[in-house]
Amino acid sequence: MSNPEKLKWSNILSIGNQAIDNDHAELLSIFNQLVDLTNKEGSRSEFAEILSRMTDYARQHFKKEEAYMEKFAYPNLSEHKKSHQTYIQTVANYNLSFLRNQKPDPIALLMFIESWWTNHILHADSMFERYKNGINAEVNYK
Ligand SMILES: [Fe+2]
Repeated sequence: MSNPEKLKWSNILSIGNQAIDNDHAELLSIFNQLVDLTNKEGSRSEFAEILSRMTDYARQHFKKEEAYMEKFAYPNLSEHKKSHQTYIQTVANYNLSFLRNQKPDPIALLMFIESWWTNHILHADSMFERYKNGINAEVNYK
């Protein structure tokens, strides 16, 4: 398997909502620290620390995003929440095998994280933004 590549924030990833974009850009920058560590074969504890920082941030972000979607009575909310849960569950399973010392493959995890976020932003989050713009209501994301 080739080495994971850093993700560069670009307009392609923008869903057109500054506040949500900022969260996504922060998640990408934490992800890139994981890529750096893996490429220079950093220690397991450093990797675990950054991964848990990323998971904490993701949880916080999902919570805010779901609350925001709720305010718009977003009809795909339960499907969207399931997608968030799959992400958290997959990363948690990885953590578990990490704690059990089963030497999980960090590259496989990074590949999952990279494709999950890219797909999720480009499809699920963008779909919500299109819905929101369609109903044209003003609600703050905080
Ligand atoms: Fe989302």
